[in-house]
Amino acid sequence: MKLLHLDSSILGEHSVSRGLTADIVAREKALHSGLEVVHRDLAADTALHLSGAHLAAFQGGAVQDAALSADLAAGGEYIKDLFDADIIVIGAPMYNFSIPSQLKAWVDRVVVAGKTFRYGANGPEGLLPAGKKVFIASSRGGFYQAGTPAAALEHHESYLRGVLGFIGLTDVTVVRAEGIALGPEARAAAIAKAREEIAAIAA
Ligand SMILES: Cc1cc2nc3c(=O)[nH]c(=O)nc-3n(C[C@H](O)[C@H](O)[C@H](O)COP(=O)(O)O)c2cc1C
Repeated sequence: MKLLHLDSSILGEHSVSRGLTADIVAREKALHSGLEVVHRDLAADTALHLSGAHLAAFQGGAVQDAALSADLAAGGEYIKDLFDADIIVIGAPMYNFSIPSQLKAWVDRVVVAGKTFRYGANGPEGLLPAGKKVFIASSRGGFYQAGTPAAALEHHESYLRGVLGFIGLTDVTVVRAEGIALGPEARAAAIAKAREEIAAIAA
């Protein structure tokens, strides 16, 4: 079995989501002996923003620029990572009400018509095969669940779930630590609760 581990926090060792993804990966390793893990640190090694040159290359145009060529190759690897993985673990902090731009840059490289989705007779269709499990380690300073005052600003988990579903990844579990900005006790309690959920992961 293969697991794809993505981190996107810019906070290094102080990151909450990085701690949670590490715990999820450790739990999955304990559940599946011989689990092969591919780790991509999207904050350390970030894809370029999509550009006109990318789109021209996607349409078969010649690529002269070495940086663009390397970036296109990395984008191809990101898609291969997804097809290869049985389990996908995504560290997703909330920055300015959404996901980090580093994670968005990854999204922009894996949502590709003809590769991960297509438009069929019944509309868009995800092309990633069924059976893959996704875990999102969600960390955020405040509270955004339905019924909370800031719920309308939640463009984070809902966005990620939506875009993953669009390419066929529908078995998504969110492990959430929220209220991180409310002080050390709230932070510790949120992380402890998330860790309990991780310890209860059964497959
Ligand atoms: C640049 C930046 C933007 C943030 N924006 C928000 C925000 O819009 N809403 C929120 O509730 N918390 C926000 N936070 C707090 C983070 O969501 C919180 O610190 C969380 O733990 C970040 O995950 P990480 O520790 O894995 O990076 C922000 C933090 C940073 C560093």
